[in-house]
Amino acid sequence: MTPSDVKATLSFSDGSPSMELPIYKGSIGPDVIDIRKLYGQTGKFTYDPGFLSTASCNSTITYIDGDKGELLYRGYPIEQLAVNCDFLETCHLLLYGDLPNEKQKVDFTARVTNHTMVNEQMQFFLRGFRRDAHPMAIMTGLVGALSAFYHDSTDINNAQHREIAAIRLIAKMPTLVAMAYKYSMGQPYMYPRNKLSYAANFMRMMFATPCDDYEPNEVLVRAMDRIFILHADHEQNASTSTVRLCGSSGTNPFAAIAAGVACLWGPAHGGANEAALNMLEDIQRQGGVEKIGEFIKQVKDKNSSVKLMGFGHRVYKNYDPRAKLMRETCHEVLGALGLGNDPMFKLAMALEKIALEDEYFVARKLYPNVDFYSGIVQRAIGIPVALFTAIFALARTVGWIAQLNEMIADPEYKIGRPRQLFVGSVKRDVKPIGQR
Ligand code: SDX
Repeated sequence: MTPSDVKATLSFSDGSPSMELPIYKGSIGPDVIDIRKLYGQTGKFTYDPGFLSTASCNSTITYIDGDKGELLYRGYPIEQLAVNCDFLETCHLLLYGDLPNEKQKVDFTARVTNHTMVNEQMQFFLRGFRRDAHPMAIMTGLVGALSAFYHDSTDINNAQHREIAAIRLIAKMPTLVAMAYKYSMGQPYMYPRNKLSYAANFMRMMFATPCDDYEPNEVLVRAMDRIFILHADHEQNASTSTVRLCGSSGTNPFAAIAAGVACLWGPAHGGANEAALNMLEDIQRQGGVEKIGEFIKQVKDKNSSVKLMGFGHRVYKNYDPRAKLMRETCHEVLGALGLGNDPMFKLAMALEKIALEDEYFVARKLYPNVDFYSGIVQRAIGIPVALFTAIFALARTVGWIAQLNEMIADPEYKIGRPRQLFVGSVKRDVKPIGQR
């Protein structure tokens, strides 16, 4: 953080003493006003529910320019990473600050590969769930349960523990998501196969059975790997902020990541990809493209709670660059599968076109986000809608861990403890029950 020559002066109309607040500049993006001394000097808090104007930390990992629709992981544009790298290279970048060279890539891949199995006891957790349990309910439980098996890496303040916990979580998430899927299908779990790539290994654990192996289709594997890259990290979004706040208490990394899984589940966040596909299927069922006008009318009706899922974003006020890349991946996957005329994809593109020309969306700068097309790609690959958010969690795990480790490694970090504006009852005495 670079102190700015400009200072902020806070003055009060009632003549209370004014105060000067330092301003810091980042390497790119908005400056920040440092309010850490505000309460001590004025007895006042700032007020920012939803944190629309609040920076919770300084970070070197991911930067989003919402107006330009730009996304950088450690300075590299997402468009270049999605085309030139694979997910494990991106994991190395997010965790350690740079893309791996040949040798580093081989070593990192070997370390992750050799941690892809989970303890055999883990399968007994699944038996407690109904077969139709939502995969995110299962994932929230399984990820938290990992902390019961790794007492050798739960001290978040120990850099070696953080490192091995990061490798274990990145390595085991695909195995756990595939187990949640197999459990819902009533099929036996498939063990990871070390000779396969990260994405191919995941797809084989999902779709192979003991009776029939699964030959991953290279186009689908590349699409899966790209979905992982596009979802890997995204600044201080709700689930990442949850992981940071949870980890700030000193809890173990598995518990902090489990909190992130729970937060991501919400339809306003990671659950939007499942909601977006369900929305498209509903419109398709009601008549498809002809029904879009009626649906858009519902969305614009303030009395309806209908939202265009997969549209809008707290930070992007332009096209989410991940949505563009996801739409390209749609073309590739549907083409490879001979589904170029997939009605769902045509419906999504028609809906996008109409929304982007409609004043309601234009005025509110509502553009497709990462969740608008990702469901169509995953559905084409054969992934059930209910598993979409679990796959988002799989991919985002590396971002959560990188952000958590960055916070813990910062000597200035403290436990997060926001304050409030209290608008409830002032102090009053308890009356005996006969007088209440
Ligand atoms: C993700 O933060 C991240 O980085 C998240 C994420 C990541 O990678 O971690 O990018 C992943 O969560 C993407 C977002 C997925 N969510 C959805 O697609 C759900 C639909 N979108 C909305 O719920 C909404 O756009 C949010 C939650 C994403 C953003 O909400 P904000 O910033 O709080 O904005 P808002 O709700 O105040 O909306 C501003 C206006 C409102 O209208 P008015 O009150 O001004 O009349 O836009 C409207 C909203 O009603 N609006 C929508 C809309 N999104 C916002 N109207 C219809 N459809 C929508 N999708």
